[in-house]
Amino acid sequence: MLLNITVLPGDGVGPEVTDEAVRVLESVAQLFGHQLSLARKDVGGAALLSANDPLPDDTLQACLASDAVLLGAVGGPSFDKFPSHLRPESGLLRLRRALGVFANLRPAVCFSSLEDCSPLRSEIVRGTNMVIVRELLGGIYFGEPRHTQGSAGNRSATDTMRYSEPEIERIAHVAFELARSRRHKVTSVDKANVLDCSRLWRGVVSRVGQQYADVKLSHMYVDSAAMALVTNPSDFDVLLTENMFGDILSDQAGGIVGSLGMLASASVGGRVGLYEPVHGSAPDIAGKGVANPLGAILSVAMLLRHSFQGNEEAQCIETSVSTVLAAGNRTRDLAKAGQSVLTTREMGHKITDAVRKYATATSRVPVT
Ligand code: IPM
Ligand code: MG
Repeated sequence: MLLNITVLPGDGVGPEVTDEAVRVLESVAQLFGHQLSLARKDVGGAALLSANDPLPDDTLQACLASDAVLLGAVGGPSFDKFPSHLRPESGLLRLRRALGVFANLRPAVCFSSLEDCSPLRSEIVRGTNMVIVRELLGGIYFGEPRHTQGSAGNRSATDTMRYSEPEIERIAHVAFELARSRRHKVTSVDKANVLDCSRLWRGVVSRVGQQYADVKLSHMYVDSAAMALVTNPSDFDVLLTENMFGDILSDQAGGIVGSLGMLASASVGGRVGLYEPVHGSAPDIAGKGVANPLGAILSVAMLLRHSFQGNEEAQCIETSVSTVLAAGNRTRDLAKAGQSVLTTREMGHKITDAVRKYATATSRVPVT
């Protein structure tokens, strides 16, 4: 198969972790006999500096012409002074919209060898395995009007949370379908005791749920869900929620399973999927070679599975990650006092080695 992929390393730790993810992608492609065509482009702050636009047309066209996009991270404090339409984040939001990727899947899995990396007691976090299904193209991220008005000292700012029934329906279907391949449980998270958007959300999700009698649907207010996530994380299977609640809860889920650096994501629903680790650009550690590349590497697994039906390829990467962690390998975010710490590159090497071993063990002959 020809894998035609645009790579957008972006800002902060984005380039470091993306390098490792691409190396893993290259080994998997070689071992499974796929041909790779990679185009690297700028996005976010990197693009702002090179082309004065966080999503240059050249980047967007490359993404639209490919089968999948692998992104590192965007943003950083040095770009905070830019007007909102030029901020790195606005480039990412425009890209999501242009690709039509309304469904953001963020698995939060507690690897058994990482139980003691969680700030929660191991018996609480043990067995946690959820997917947050975050609506990605609606809500307060995109609602109009949005502006700041008035003169200094007396300004006011407006953002608009807006959802339509079709927008809620389509993301609800994604969550219910996904639940059918898992533990048949959907928890829909809203703020229906306060927000009109959430009351509409709850109504539409319940209606869609009637078509999935085999899936158990429950509703939770977002404040209560935030608590349940830390008291009973292993209870969640598919957590369905709107854009901003999903942004917040997915970082929380990252903390719960030990490190945000472990979380991968897939943004799907359009022709071209967008795959990115959940962690941000982490400017405090950027360029030091200490970032955890596993979120980016696991995003490659999601890319292979969702954009190329490469289940076996994805499994190979996921098994390799879990084997490497089980052998005690740790990047700085996962290491305890006294444990030796791998650099970003060293962790990447460990995974490519494990990928090769896995492929040999399952008797795949490298294609050269
Ligand atoms: C995420 C990030 C983005 C978001 C930012 C960088 C725009 O926090 O993917 O979770 O808020 O969606
Ligand atoms: Mg976020």
